[in-house]
Amino acid sequence: MTRLVVLISGRGSNLVAIANAIERRELDAEIVAVISSRPQALGLEEARNRAIPALVVDHRDFDDRQEFDRALAEKINEYRPDWVVLAGFMRILSAEFIARFPACMTNIHPSLLPAYPGLETHKRALADGVSEHGATVHLVSNELDGGPVLGRVRVPLLAGDTEATLADRVLHQEHRLYPRVLQLLVSGRLRWDAECEALRLDGEGCDPVEI
Ligand code: GRF
Repeated sequence: MTRLVVLISGRGSNLVAIANAIERRELDAEIVAVISSRPQALGLEEARNRAIPALVVDHRDFDDRQEFDRALAEKINEYRPDWVVLAGFMRILSAEFIARFPACMTNIHPSLLPAYPGLETHKRALADGVSEHGATVHLVSNELDGGPVLGRVRVPLLAGDTEATLADRVLHQEHRLYPRVLQLLVSGRLRWDAECEALRLDGEGCDPVEI
């Protein structure tokens, strides 16, 4: 069974969506640990309710980013994951850390990358008056929210949308997107060919998966 370690910092709704997909047998994987950078993250409770080991590596316990990253990597490796799944993990990871998990670390971001990397994506999309917004699952690289895109979901803007209504609709779609992309990865159907810098679905070059 494919082993996932999920990294969170807060609410954990994507973690719940992934755990539910596993329960429904839509995702052939096992969450072997949830690790939070914040002790008060609500997602920890969600993990414990499901009898998933839930741990904290609190960034405030470390003098610098390097030490935190090293402790986090060690903790992750104790669980021998096949994939490290970032789900609302709010720490920027060092190049050294990322190099320890080559092409096996995913993240979900609330925008149609490469548009709006970083924070306040919904606010910026509304301010620009774009017609569509959405969410992206990508591999983690050294560039913030800049690794190869694996999948995305589009969300149209509606008249009267506020940051809250838009965020809500995007989040709802994130919960569909992340398990779907993870299932394609764990089944080996979707693969990033680093040598050719190409995404492949069932062996054929493809665009990011759209749901
Ligand atoms: C999501 O919007 C995700 O795209 C972003 O952080 C948020 C996490 O939400 N990276 P949750 O903790 O999964 O509810």
